[in-house]
Amino acid sequence: MAAGRGLRGQRLLLCVCGGIAAYKAAELVRRLRDAGAQVQVAMTGNAQRFVGAQTFQALSGLPVRTSLWDDAAEAAMGHIELARWADRVVVAPATANTIARLAHGLADDLVSTLCLATTAPITLCPAMNHRMWLHPATQANVALLRERGATVIGPDEGPLAEGESGPGRLSEPAAIVAALEAM
Ligand SMILES: Cc1cc2nc3c(=O)[nH]c(=O)nc-3n(C[C@H](O)[C@H](O)[C@H](O)COP(=O)(O)O)c2cc1C
Repeated sequence: MAAGRGLRGQRLLLCVCGGIAAYKAAELVRRLRDAGAQVQVAMTGNAQRFVGAQTFQALSGLPVRTSLWDDAAEAAMGHIELARWADRVVVAPATANTIARLAHGLADDLVSTLCLATTAPITLCPAMNHRMWLHPATQANVALLRERGATVIGPDEGPLAEGESGPGRLSEPAAIVAALEAM
């Protein structure tokens, strides 16, 4: 079967950020696994306000990392090992805040530290209000990350959560998987 060949056996570290589209990351995990990838999920603190870690644990079949300061997790697979484990890091949804923090090389939470510590390619799947996306600060941050080798999938244009419309929707999970398979 051709579908999924590109991701079969790949170790994907999915970093979920605190945006309304975090619920779509659950479907993304399922589709990535269907495509044959191993998926390990790390969440920002704010992502956990939108979706519970248990959802991702059940879907990924692996413990979910939610904090840098987790004694048990650090004793098992520490954040540096996790950063080394990944063949690719996917940040979905990538919030304006996390994009800015990655562009500036911050490492003050689990997701930013993993992204700084990895040498694996990073793919961002932005999702935010269209004004946040079009803001020159966000555009400059994305351009900087692209220059450093990050790939960007989306965002799509269409209706947004606040009843507005424009570029800012998270790309559909199936489209994200197809784009990752093509990489
Ligand atoms: C209801 C709600 C929805 C939000 N949706 C988004 C979003 O889609 N994209 C985004 O960039 N920020 C969104 N935010 C703002 C982020 O949650 C905020 O910037 C936060 O600091 C992001 O943290 P993180 O990047 O560490 O996950 C939303 C906030 C709230 C309260």
